[in-house]
Formats: sequence, C-alpha cells, structure tokens
Amino acid sequence: MIAAMDISVTKAGRSKLQDLNLENLPFGKYFSDHMLEADCEQGEWKNIEIKPYQPLLLGPSLAALHYGQAIFEGIKAYKDRKGNAFIFRPQENYKRFNISAQRMQMPDVPEELFLEGMRQLVELDQSWIPSREDHSLYIRPFMFSTDEVIGVRPSESYKFIIILSPTGPYYSAPMRIYVEEKYVRAVPGGVGYAKAAGNYGAAMYATAEARKKGYDQVLWMDAFEHKYVQEIGTMNVFFIIGNTAITPDLEQGTILDGVTRNSAITLLKELGFQVEERHLSIDAIIDAYKAGILYEVFGTGTAATISLIKELRYKDFVMHFDVEKWKTAPTLKKWLADIREGRREDKYGWMQKV
Ligand code: COI
Repeated sequence: MIAAMDISVTKAGRSKLQDLNLENLPFGKYFSDHMLEADCEQGEWKNIEIKPYQPLLLGPSLAALHYGQAIFEGIKAYKDRKGNAFIFRPQENYKRFNISAQRMQMPDVPEELFLEGMRQLVELDQSWIPSREDHSLYIRPFMFSTDEVIGVRPSESYKFIIILSPTGPYYSAPMRIYVEEKYVRAVPGGVGYAKAAGNYGAAMYATAEARKKGYDQVLWMDAFEHKYVQEIGTMNVFFIIGNTAITPDLEQGTILDGVTRNSAITLLKELGFQVEERHLSIDAIIDAYKAGILYEVFGTGTAATISLIKELRYKDFVMHFDVEKWKTAPTLKKWLADIREGRREDKYGWMQKV
C-alpha cells in the first residue's frame, strides 16, 4: 500500500470538458483540466502540486533543451461498465521510468510521487476518461533537467510532470511497413531500452523518408548487420510463424521492455502459442512467408495497443498479408480491451483501481 502523499491541490475554476466531444478523439491533442508538477533540487523532491493545466515558464538556457536529459512514459486509464476508473499496470511503467532515469543520469522519482500522484490526478480528472471503444485517458509522466546552464553535465535540478490526454486510437488502420536498412534506432550499449525523448526525435528522419515512399512506419533492424528485427516505429513487434510467436529479446538493451509486449506474451501463452523471445532475421521471416507459415505480424505499444501489419517491404521483396483473415492479433486486441474495460476477468491483477 502506498502512503497518501501531501500533494497540494488547486482546482481549475471551469472545466474545459464541456467544450470537448469525447467521441472520435485524435491521439494526444487535448489535455484534461489538471496536471501534476514537482521539482527535484539536489536530490530532494519539493513543490509537489496538482494544479490547472498550464504553460511552463522556462529559461532559454534550460539544460534539457540543449542536451536532452528528458524521459517519459505512456500509461492508460479506462472506465469499466459501472463507470469505475482503472489504470493499466502503472507499477510496470513506474519501474521502467526509473530505469530510464538511471540511464540518463537523472534522479529516481519516488514511488508515492509517481503512483499516488498519478492516482490522485486521474481521480480528479476521471470524467475525462472516454467510455468509447478504442478510447482511453492517456497518462504522460515525464521528467527533464532544469538547470539553466549550457555546460555539458548532469543537472542538479529536474522537473517531473504528469499530464492527461483523452484519446482515440493511435493507428486507426492496418499498416504498411518499410524494412529500414540504413538508419538505426538503437545500438548495444546505447539507450534503446530507455524511454528517452531523444530516441523518438532520432527516429523521425528515417520515418519521414519511409513515408515519402508510401509507408506508415519503419521496421528497425540491428545496428551492425541490418539483419535482425528490432521494433516497428514506436512499438514492439511480434511474428506468428507456425504455432510460435516470436518477438526480439531484450538482452542487448536495444529494445524497449514494453508493458503491452509483456501483456501480449502472457495472453499469447494463454491462447496456446509457444512464445520465443530471441533474435529473428529478416531472411528467416522471408523464408517463413514463402513457405506460407508467416501468419501474422503486429506491433504492440501503450499508445497503439495491438497494431496489424498488412505489408512489409524488404528491398524489392514485398510481403502482403490478408489481415481480414487473421485470428490471433484481433483476439489479443479484444482480450486486452475486455480486461481494460471490465468485460473479462482481470486474472493477472493488471487493473489498478483509482
Ligand atoms: C506509447 O506507446 O505510449 C509511446 O510512448 C509511443 C508514442 C506515443 C511516443
């Protein structure tokens, strides 16, 4: 049990919710009435408050803007059929947040601040949780360095913030994916396993190049041989080959340890699949496709949940998939939605009541 923290709360005078239609929301465009903000100075957390969502006043020499000590998380809150609010596996994101913080030489965020602060914020803004299918309240905790100095060194001060965005699906349709051979997302020894802001900025050029060619996202390959699959866009990736579900392993530190990835592994086992976390080469994928045993390819992520891949292009070889006939990824997607929205037993204890 997490002790209730002393968080000062200032409520917004007027809710912006009355101006918003919670049907058909785009991803991440609207923000709820309140935010949580806290400062860390010389290792001590202070000024912890929930207050109306508002702009920040930052100096132009702010260290994070220059050297990128900035990390974030993505979590979702849902409502069950009785209207009770729940957060999906926040403890897992909390652990990963501090793993990212350590890699970026940033302070740990205390558990009460991250989890109890998030709970109080979601409780206050729970009327912002959309009830519609494929919709949720996306929770975005983030932290960045706030020293105003342009010397390259870890900051002595940091800001931790949580904002909430009522949101619809991230990818609304099955995707076309370009296998990226030139640019890489992560290298062993690098920061691929951390949810560091720079990982996302560094991916934008290659993604834009793939878009010019008509693709939605890239399939990242390993940095040395460009041979082993890593992630798709901002998601972990799964291949169903025969009766085995294969997803890249986490051992080299280049893959994000996704909470949806972990949940998908659990549910795939429940569906009777053998699940293998291991290296998988693009050649093995093409062989399985030619042999007619590459049945499904999908991405997993908090924002995207389960995203179906309808085309995969490697050099001049194009793999097409008839996603209408798929069973596994749609079943996973439905099971996850049913657990989150209270229609299926939460036997793993994933839903934390607000
Ligand atoms: C998430 O899935 O939560 C992500 O972080 C992906 C993206 C919105 C950055």
